[in-house]
Amino acid sequence: MRPHVFINIAASIDGRISDERRKQIRISCEEDMLRVDKLRAESDAIMVGIGTVLADNPKLTVRNTALKEERTRTGKAPNPIRVVVDSRARTPPNANVLSKEAKTLIAVSESADKVKLASLKNRAEVFIAGKNRVDLRTLLEHLYSLGVRRLMVEGGARLNYGLISEGLVDEIMIYYGGIIIADGPAIVDGPSFKPPVPVELSEVKQLGKGVLAIWKCTNKL
Ligand SMILES: NC(=O)c1ccc[n+]([C@@H]2O[C@H](COP(=O)([O-])OP(=O)(O)OC[C@H]3O[C@@H](n4cnc5c(N)ncnc54)[C@H](OP(=O)(O)O)[C@@H]3O)[C@@H](O)[C@H]2O)c1
Repeated sequence: MRPHVFINIAASIDGRISDERRKQIRISCEEDMLRVDKLRAESDAIMVGIGTVLADNPKLTVRNTALKEERTRTGKAPNPIRVVVDSRARTPPNANVLSKEAKTLIAVSESADKVKLASLKNRAEVFIAGKNRVDLRTLLEHLYSLGVRRLMVEGGARLNYGLISEGLVDEIMIYYGGIIIADGPAIVDGPSFKPPVPVELSEVKQLGKGVLAIWKCTNKL
């Protein structure tokens, strides 16, 4: 069993999620940031790839106090569990994702450096799955066993690729901001899917100065 998995990502109208330096750039508007905060508050866990941790140093916590209070009223922790997919245990010990406000689980592979692992174990829970790369299906099953039923994936491009290629994604939410970036990682980054992965449009609406499109994955396993 695995949780319901949805990817939420902001992209330029040419489908880029950052620029050629792979550094975060502002794509969302205020309205979208409120929507994303609500999605976080409604999730049991939030997952990112190590590339995103190294590039953007996100905190991945709920910002709005009322949303956090609503979670605690219903018996949940104020913030969802943060999950980093990090085969080689490269998460820096001072990364924001290891801040005290929320629990963090670092998923590593068997090839992770033992010294780095020991240091991370002081700051987060560590889960080992896969020989050289994190086995995403095993990780999702582990998250399910911890009570995670709704998992929000916040990028980046390579993690999105890994999850989609294994049929582990149920929904993809894309906020297209009114900008064009040209070179930079796309929403999904990896060798071409042959044949391309089919998705079905389930919702589309204008939000702020951009467009929110929600797609259902039909290749899920
Ligand atoms: N616009 C947005 O909404 C948004 C959101 C998030 C990120 N971003 C941007 O996305 C970029 C980062 O994306 P990224 O593609 O470089 O990194 P990423 O997707 O965040 O992380 C990818 C890394 O995850 C690790 N990984 C471990 N097991 C994996 C598996 N089974 N499948 C896939 N990956 C696995 C790999 O590193 P190891 O082999 O070392 O484990 C891989 O290189 C940054 O530019 C960031 O700004 C944009």
